[in-house]
Amino acid sequence: MSGSVLVTGGAGYIGTHICVALIEAGFTVSVLDNYYNSNPVSLDRVAHITGQSLARIQGDVRDHKTLSDALQQSGATAVIHCAGLKAVSESVQEPLHYYDHNVVGTLRLLEAMAQCQVKTLIFSSSATVYGNPQFLPLTEEHPLAPTNPYGHSKLMVEKMLRDVFTADPSWRIGMLRYFNPVGAHPSGLIGEDPQGLPNNLLPFVAQVAIGRHPVLNIWGDDYDTPDGTGVRDYVHVTDLAKGHLCALQQLAASKTGHCTAINLGTGTGYSVLDVVRAFEQASGQSVPYRIMPRRPGDVATCFASPQLAQQLLGWQAQQDLLAMCTDAWRWQSDNPQGYTNAL
Ligand code: NAD
Ligand code: UFG
Repeated sequence: MSGSVLVTGGAGYIGTHICVALIEAGFTVSVLDNYYNSNPVSLDRVAHITGQSLARIQGDVRDHKTLSDALQQSGATAVIHCAGLKAVSESVQEPLHYYDHNVVGTLRLLEAMAQCQVKTLIFSSSATVYGNPQFLPLTEEHPLAPTNPYGHSKLMVEKMLRDVFTADPSWRIGMLRYFNPVGAHPSGLIGEDPQGLPNNLLPFVAQVAIGRHPVLNIWGDDYDTPDGTGVRDYVHVTDLAKGHLCALQQLAASKTGHCTAINLGTGTGYSVLDVVRAFEQASGQSVPYRIMPRRPGDVATCFASPQLAQQLLGWQAQQDLLAMCTDAWRWQSDNPQGYTNAL
């Protein structure tokens, strides 16, 4: 495969893994990122893994000129739009901040893409658009009823993309709804580097295993699940990255425009205790935990139907929970402070 792709938010957790997959598949990659929640060292690591350089533009997706310059200079024929904010609780405290980065940022991007006649886009959406599951597994037809501003911002963008496509059906748009991305590149050179106390389970478990925190708080063991703890669809970030390649390939090969939402998950749910046990096995470390009250807003169980991804993209996640934990542990133990102080 060849061609030039602009990855917004490409210095972040998922973006770096997408950049590696794109470069290894033969694409020329440019990254636009304001490093709001990332460290440019991550892109040095991408270059190290792939043995190839990539163009970097430090800038904000809310800035029209930055975007049109980036599109023109890169010669991109497609954009993978990962830039955005993602912390649910922060979005409740600062909703306008989330609408600004996530909704306004995408609006500006679409304007610049239309102006530059670049009409192929893959958008980082989220399973959060479904809200509380009314049935499982979650298919793409499940009602969309997010329960927080972060989720609302993702759904607003999906609606905006559908409207853009209705007005101009030559657009080729893939809205990929990620379930719970975890793990790291097998090299141990790139991975998730949360700033401050991690909200998400896997990075917290990894930091307990490395000794940065004494104990994991498990938010509730009285759910209607096999062991009482919450069940989620964890998907390896390198599998997720491959899903973007498959989507890009499909959009490029298609003779007509598209605007399609597709789940990226494994279809299998694991409980918090399953994750703790797998992580202990992968790391050889113990992960002490204590049971705490439920976290407000959490649901008991959430997992994807991955059938549409298989049918439309020929994509299926390959890696199991042990591989996810093994790679997360390699990243954590090789980089105990993430990219901070890294060379
Ligand atoms: P991340 O924070 O690691 O990466 C996002 C990147 O976007 C960062 O490098 C950040 O600096 C950049 N960014 C943010 N606002 C920007 C702006 N206005 N202009 C330019 N760059 C900006 O997050 P991630 O986990 O890699 O997530 C990537 C995307 O996937 C996000 O849109 C997120 O909402 C979505 N997503 C993530 C998850 C998850 O659990 N990680 C789940 C579902 C969806
Ligand atoms: N959990 C703990 N202790 C922790 C952290 C999490 O017990 O310290 C539990 C949660 O209660 C839940 C499970 O681990 O049962 C997973 O929690 P995460 O915070 O890792 O993930 P969520 O499923 O809550 O949320 C993630 C993303 C959201 C996205 C959502 C939808 O963080 O942005 O998936 O797929 F909206």
